[in-house]
Amino acid sequence: MLSRRLPVAALTLVAALILAPLAQAQAGAWEQCGGNEWYSQCLVASATTTTTTTKTTSTTASTSTNTASCNAAADGFASLNGGTTGGAGGTVVTVTTQTDLAKYAAASGKYVIKVSGKITISPKGTEISVASDKTIIGIGTTGEIYEGGLRLIGVKNVIIRNLKIGNTYVPTDYEGKTQDWDAIQMDTASNVWIDHCLLEKAGDGLIDSRLDTTFLTVSYTILRDHNKAFGIGWTENVTSQITIHHNYFLNTNQRNPSADNIRYAHLYNNYLSNVTSYGHYARGSTEMRMENVYFEKVNNPVTKDSTAKLAASGNTYSSCTGTTASNSGTVFTPSTFYSYSLTATAQVPSVVKAQAGPQASICPS
Ligand SMILES: *[C@@H]1O[C@H](CO)[C@@H](O)[C@H](O)[C@H]1NC(C)=O
Ligand SMILES: *[C@@H]1O[C@H](CO)[C@@H](O)[C@H](O)[C@H]1NC(C)=O
Repeated sequence: MLSRRLPVAALTLVAALILAPLAQAQAGAWEQCGGNEWYSQCLVASATTTTTTTKTTSTTASTSTNTASCNAAADGFASLNGGTTGGAGGTVVTVTTQTDLAKYAAASGKYVIKVSGKITISPKGTEISVASDKTIIGIGTTGEIYEGGLRLIGVKNVIIRNLKIGNTYVPTDYEGKTQDWDAIQMDTASNVWIDHCLLEKAGDGLIDSRLDTTFLTVSYTILRDHNKAFGIGWTENVTSQITIHHNYFLNTNQRNPSADNIRYAHLYNNYLSNVTSYGHYARGSTEMRMENVYFEKVNNPVTKDSTAKLAASGNTYSSCTGTTASNSGTVFTPSTFYSYSLTATAQVPSVVKAQAGPQASICPS
């Protein structure tokens, strides 16, 4: 096990070093955009008005934006431990069928797997197995894994971006008791980035992050129309390091997320709207830093077990009901691990509504 993992770690480190200047350039662009990490989106207005730009220049610009964006690397805790670059630098393939998606997702080596259009999964509920060193990314805004999901078991360095996934819901089984169909399931995985996805109506969880899955970042993702949105835990160990930012929890019931026994949980700039059971939950021995989260019509917006540590600041509670847990204990400082920029809380609903979920600019072709 160890001897097989070492070369992967070494390759990941090399990839991280190569991609470091790219990540820095993106961080700079992000700051310019006031929380918009997609530099191309910031340029849309000026690009459309600059009609005198020569053809050569605009072609070069659009090609480099495309390449950089389809191959972007993770931020947050997923940027540590060698970084999360997925299949960047490997073979690029475009898939339109379940057979090809499953084949390349399970292959060994680095692959950037571009999903073109909607792939209907059969039988309904099947979770496609994803091996290490993969990027699975939707082209434009129509990449979709319909009536199925993805499962990451014991793998490292996976990116899932710009995809719609779900619709495995069984109307007679709201609780997910008769099947375990998740949109994304992760058991003992590490270095995973889920970004700009739209996850809805799964049979069980939209995201189940279990059994010490770590160095995970979930960003700009919509989790909607669902019972058990995002569960983290299923472990007695307190080792996982997780960043959850700029996500949109809409019309959900429980686990938004429920974060059990997390060593470091950093949640910021999420937008929760119409949540019926509870919002952000520091469960078990979790140590949670929560910043500038916007809760709107959320029942029990912040929940904490007596054994958990919590430092919440800058949140807005609009038309919320139930209880909001108090801070307690000494909590880690995320900026000692990685850099990030906070969106002002008042802007969180508009920024997250506009930018979460698949975006045309992320991987245009
Ligand atoms: C907890 O950590 C131990 C030691 O690494 C490991 O054997 C065990 O599988 C972990 N438990 C879970 C639930 O992941
Ligand atoms: C709120 O969410 C529930 C599902 O949890 C849904 O049935 C209801 O229609 C939503 N309300 C609004 C106003 O969208």
